[in-house]
Amino acid sequence: MSGDLRGGRRRRRADEERIDAAARSASRPEPASDAVLRLVGVSRVYGSGEQTVTALADVDLAVAPGELVAIMGASGSGKSTLLSIAGGLQQPTSGDVVVEQRALSALDAREMARLRRRSLGFVFQDFNLIPTLTAAENVALPLELDGAGSRSARRMAEAALDSVGLGPRADTYPDELSGGQQQRVAIARAVVGGRRLILADEPTGALDSVTGEAVMKMLRSRIDDGAAGLLVTHEARHAAWADRVVFLRDGRIIDESRRDGADELLRGVR
Ligand SMILES: Nc1ncnc2c1ncn2[C@@H]1O[C@H](COP(=O)(O)OP(=O)(O)OP(=O)(O)O)[C@@H](O)[C@H]1O
Ligand SMILES: [Mg+2]
Repeated sequence: MSGDLRGGRRRRRADEERIDAAARSASRPEPASDAVLRLVGVSRVYGSGEQTVTALADVDLAVAPGELVAIMGASGSGKSTLLSIAGGLQQPTSGDVVVEQRALSALDAREMARLRRRSLGFVFQDFNLIPTLTAAENVALPLELDGAGSRSARRMAEAALDSVGLGPRADTYPDELSGGQQQRVAIARAVVGGRRLILADEPTGALDSVTGEAVMKMLRSRIDDGAAGLLVTHEARHAAWADRVVFLRDGRIIDESRRDGADELLRGVR
């Protein structure tokens, strides 16, 4: 057999191994212990008797560091319920929520409040900024509530605002900022101090499409820095920023799709 042929075969073999590795990483569920957020058999039932509504039914979901998972589904399918249970704002009727290896059901109220301040960032459709505080003060507030000194809180707030391109607007009040800028302040507040889990419920819902896209880009880059994110959205083009899209219907996960990393690698190999 000629050296050329063998070399060709060896190259092909190496290519195949790269493709295999790409396929494996594209279909990675990270080992569960790495997950920043894990929902295990989570159900939520509202009301009682004939008025019972099952908002979530036996949902399993894990989100790894650096991963953004989009949640889609019709109105009433349980998206907001899932997000608020993931953030400990309400309890599941059954099942477990684990954030950074801590089962929320095992935390008392103080531990829960601390975990929420240190690990979780929420971003809502209506921004939820405090109008009487500047951008920097809004971002610094959760740090100060957590006992940080005002100078170091200010420094961290400025860094977080820089990371969403709003460093120069640190001393501006919310009503002097555009909707997109306000939402970027909210994203800065959600990630400040190294929060690991960002929960966003239709963060682009009140924005025009260009601004919405810019906000998604910011969110994506914060996640790329190592946070984990859950994003509720109605818009496919915003879900396209996610690594994975989970579809809910009547409180159940009915489908799941992944961005396929293998394609990209195949192009590099050819
Ligand atoms: N506090 C509550 N009490 C009773 N039922 C509730 C409550 N919150 C939500 N539900 C019900 O649970 C189901 C899921 O609601 P949820 O708000 O999670 O839906 P959603 O997917 O976020 O919808 P939307 O796209 O309209 O925001 C719905 O049938 C809703 O009516
Ligand atoms: Mg909702």
